[in-house]
Amino acid sequence: MKGDLVEVDVTAVAHGGHCVARHLGRVVFVRHALPGERVVVRITEDTGGSYCRGDAVQVLQAAPERVEPPCPYAGPGRCGGCDFQHVTAAGQRGLKATVVREQLSRLGGLPDVPVVVEELPGGLLGWRTRMQFAVDRRGRAGLRRHRSHSVLPLADCPLAHPALSVSDVLARRWRDAQGVEVVGSAAEPPTVLRRGLHRSVAVSGPQVRREQAAGRSWQVDIGAFWQVHPAAADVLGAAVLSMLAPRPGERCVDLYGGVGLFAGLLADTVGPTGSVLCVEGDRAAAADARVNLAPTPWASVRRQAVDAALVAGLSAYDVAVLDPPRTGAGRPLVEALAAGPARAIAYVACDPAALARDVKTFGEHGWRLSALRAFDLFPMTHHVECVALLVPGTG
Ligand SMILES: C[S@@+](CC[C@H](N)C(=O)[O-])C[C@H]1O[C@@H](n2cnc3c(N)ncnc32)[C@H](O)[C@@H]1O
Repeated sequence: MKGDLVEVDVTAVAHGGHCVARHLGRVVFVRHALPGERVVVRITEDTGGSYCRGDAVQVLQAAPERVEPPCPYAGPGRCGGCDFQHVTAAGQRGLKATVVREQLSRLGGLPDVPVVVEELPGGLLGWRTRMQFAVDRRGRAGLRRHRSHSVLPLADCPLAHPALSVSDVLARRWRDAQGVEVVGSAAEPPTVLRRGLHRSVAVSGPQVRREQAAGRSWQVDIGAFWQVHPAAADVLGAAVLSMLAPRPGERCVDLYGGVGLFAGLLADTVGPTGSVLCVEGDRAAAADARVNLAPTPWASVRRQAVDAALVAGLSAYDVAVLDPPRTGAGRPLVEALAAGPARAIAYVACDPAALARDVKTFGEHGWRLSALRAFDLFPMTHHVECVALLVPGTG
């Protein structure tokens, strides 16, 4: 029952930033714990069903990967922004690798995929170039507690990139705001956005930002998608290129193309005898993509929703990039791609469960997972980014 203290052995990590234990025949999803530990758990949520949730409030036997959280706001009942502050860097990557492997096995039907989660430069702290804060009734900005609407006011956040100067934003009162957001990079002053009931308004800093990746500059509207880790665009771009190995003259499709990052890199590689089509649904992102792809006029942008009908109507293409939102591509879109002419598809995935489901669908249509890389784009959190190479044939 909620509030009870129970002593459990923690067995495995689960997708979502918690670990699994059992108590009186029921599963307990435990936060702030590690596999192999014996902990006292305070039950925070009891569904009445087969499982409940809890926080490890006392560690009776610690795992070797356990460390003291560097953030003063981390811990049971406190900030819900991080999941793995209590884990070494290598330990975090190990947990994420286990989760990706387990999702591919359970949901993807692929039991033996070796997974290594690769480290990005820059360490565990100071990497977030975009922070969204909630605001409490007194106008104080902070982060929500885990699975709660309650806001924990903060004076600083050690995950925030120093260029964001979040302590300045957090020191202010944001009366009547729904939230406040800060976006920044080393090159420009941060943009601060006040989130109202219906829209966000920039209160300081540029509306259109310049981001650096792959040796060039990209125009990114403040409302358009750009990876949050400063090294992410470089790392993902290189991974996609090395997996697809596009050749001069090839025709490429970049689905969910954002401001044209992958499309731009593909266009540079295939050259003017090839072609690239970037499909992006968001108006501002598509407009940025047009600007970013202007130096390579063999790359074009379509502002349109990506769906199965669109893919079925595409003329011949050799390679595709698929970078959908968290929910994944879904069966109809995967089936349309699997029926298409591509020799290879690079699938960039921020949710390993959605990736695993889509990989299974590709498999049902005669495609196979030929390579997988995973990256720790979101240190201290349970999130992990994967790049999967899918090719036709059983290999
Ligand atoms: C994960 S982001 C990837 C962006 C880009 N590939 C990058 O790496 O910068 C997903 C993108 O898909 C766009 N998007 C989401 N749903 C969409 C849909 N149904 N049709 C087209 N674009 C969509 C979003 O606006 C966003 O730009």
